[in-house]
Amino acid sequence: MKRVCILGITGSIGEQAVEVIKGLDDYIVVSASCNTNYNKLDEYLNDLNLEGVWVKEASFLNDKYPNTSFYYDVDSLLKNVNCDVVINALVGVAGLKASVAIIKAKKELLLANKESLVLAGDIINKLLKENNVRMLPIDSEHSALFQCLDGRSINDVDELIITASGGALRDLDRSQLVGVTISDVLNHPTWKMGGKITVDCATMVNKGFEVIEAHHLFGFDYDKIKTVLHQESAIHGAIKFKDGSVICQMGATSMKLPIQYALTYPARFKCNLNQNFDLTDTFNLHFRKMDYNRYPMLALAYKVAKLGGIMPAVYCAANDLAVNKFLKGEIEFLEIENIINDKVNYYLDKNISNPTLDDIYKVIDEISK
Ligand SMILES: NC(=O)c1ccc[n+]([C@@H]2O[C@H](COP(=O)([O-])OP(=O)(O)OC[C@H]3O[C@@H](n4cnc5c(N)ncnc54)[C@H](OP(=O)(O)O)[C@@H]3O)[C@@H](O)[C@H]2O)c1
Repeated sequence: MKRVCILGITGSIGEQAVEVIKGLDDYIVVSASCNTNYNKLDEYLNDLNLEGVWVKEASFLNDKYPNTSFYYDVDSLLKNVNCDVVINALVGVAGLKASVAIIKAKKELLLANKESLVLAGDIINKLLKENNVRMLPIDSEHSALFQCLDGRSINDVDELIITASGGALRDLDRSQLVGVTISDVLNHPTWKMGGKITVDCATMVNKGFEVIEAHHLFGFDYDKIKTVLHQESAIHGAIKFKDGSVICQMGATSMKLPIQYALTYPARFKCNLNQNFDLTDTFNLHFRKMDYNRYPMLALAYKVAKLGGIMPAVYCAANDLAVNKFLKGEIEFLEIENIINDKVNYYLDKNISNPTLDDIYKVIDEISK
């Protein structure tokens, strides 16, 4: 029996991970975490017989669930409740401390929290090596690239290609972005996801994160990591080889598939998807060159990625701040870009090469104030 811990069980990825695990023989959810959604946690506590949960506050749960232990930090949860793999499905910059804790606890890391690699990809890779821990991607594009690359020499690869749906506002030009509402932005055309990542798709910051994530996962230079607009989200990622051959991965727009593949790799089992992907259905595939004028945050992601040091962390933390403000109704959609630009410009002459984790946590703290 493989014992799984799901950090962020109350979120979109967490919920789908539970469904996937219920459909798999020999896998069991033994521990989890949540931030504020105690109603949903209560449902899981009733349903799953969790041995341990990391929460902010649990006094009112202790009596109701005497067989579950509650912990107030991730390290205690990982130390006290044995597990084989941990899914990091936290959202935003909070995911970094969890990734570090998982690796230091020598647990296999199944990574949905892409922000961990954007903030501190070099450090995470070093920790993985030092602790002899395996990390597998859950993000659909990276799962696709991982599947396409499997067993092939990276020396044979010319380009990694990451597809982008264009997000909820893709049919609007920049002049039409003024005054778009929160519900406009959350109305993603192809994927159903948590709020923050849905906003990140509309700004294309999400694709910027994915470029940086791909660099750290697969070790390719940024010039070899390309993005392409693909409105159907049928192809999630592709590899162009030196001889010109392109291998791509297709599948339903459901995160259950990449979650399951990370859990069962390299084996494949039947996956309980909501929709089947059938090549005999009538559908078209469209591809367009990425439009960096329409999506300046993606151009900025390449810039901060190439600058390195703390600049990707600045971009990531500034985005967390801005998206939180937008989702609370405090700022307009286009102000997200202004906040990220301002923070990146402010830190340009304060960059630190080879930052430590403390340098990165300091930047996150400074920006979140
Ligand atoms: N959703 C997708 O389809 C998808 C696809 C690819 C990658 N990802 C990535 O996966 C990660 C999770 O995304 P999501 O869409 O599942 O997010 P989500 O629905 O917002 O869920 C986030 C989870 O993190 C918890 N959380 C939030 N802030 C926290 C904090 N400060 N400390 C501890 N826990 C905290 C939440 O707890 P509460 O519910 O209790 O607040 C929830 O369980 C993100 O990095 C995202 O980019 C998501």
